[in-house]
Amino acid sequence: MNENFKTQVAESVESVSSRWKGTPRFGIVLGTGAGIVAEHIQAQATLPYGSIANFPVSTATGHKGNLVCGTLDGHEVVAMQGRFHLYEGYDVDHATLPIHVMHALGVEVLFVSNAAGGLNPKMDSGDVMLIESHVDFMNRTSPQIAAEPTLGRPSFRSDQVYDRDLIESAHSIARKEGFALHQGVYAAMLGPNYETRAEYRMLRRMGIDVAGMSTVPEVNVAARSGIRTMAMSIVTNVANPDSLEPTSGEEVIEAARVAAPKLKAIVSGVMASC
Ligand code: 6GU
Repeated sequence: MNENFKTQVAESVESVSSRWKGTPRFGIVLGTGAGIVAEHIQAQATLPYGSIANFPVSTATGHKGNLVCGTLDGHEVVAMQGRFHLYEGYDVDHATLPIHVMHALGVEVLFVSNAAGGLNPKMDSGDVMLIESHVDFMNRTSPQIAAEPTLGRPSFRSDQVYDRDLIESAHSIARKEGFALHQGVYAAMLGPNYETRAEYRMLRRMGIDVAGMSTVPEVNVAARSGIRTMAMSIVTNVANPDSLEPTSGEEVIEAARVAAPKLKAIVSGVMASC
């Protein structure tokens, strides 16, 4: 991290902590369709991104663009209602600025959600998948790239980004609540367009379960910061290379409606187990 960016993070932290005095242990990133989970938060401060120093302003559809600070089931949390994507043109540092801020505020456990296309034939619209590993097709997402040249060494283990205990805890909640919960591999694509049929076919053959356009930059920063992380995909559409129906806005909204209660149950249950 260069000095200039460190200063920017400090300014963003000050911008939040001057308006909210909480000390959150939990951070939540609510992506496309997951924003409604924020309605369960007893908000003490809802800070529009535009009001936080150095925060980019989210332009992606379905993203509200608020940092929601308050309590969820009595736990202090800071939640992003909407996120920043590399395809919006932000560099990795600025796309992940909120994660740096969460770390500075004391976040130790992070929940990340996203919308993704289901490539595994077992995936249905409205399903939820825990990410056990990823393939990074975005390139240049490593927070290490922006670091000083002398730090050009790996600073976290890519195979330990997704916390095993949190994954186990999520599965036990799904069993108890009686809903299906997939586990699999997320492909991070730069976007903003969906893939070609040939790319869907390629990704399937590679063993990819879902494809999306976010999450990997954020979980990498979290891992480097020592934050325990769990990430979940909401399957908003089925990416079948042989019958490509364009995804409608209604389809995404319906998938989110089905998936949101599962997400909420997982976040609540895992927080209680931490
Ligand atoms: Cl099919 N691909 C990508 N890259 N992102 C998505 C998606 C597909 N569906 C939802 N998000």
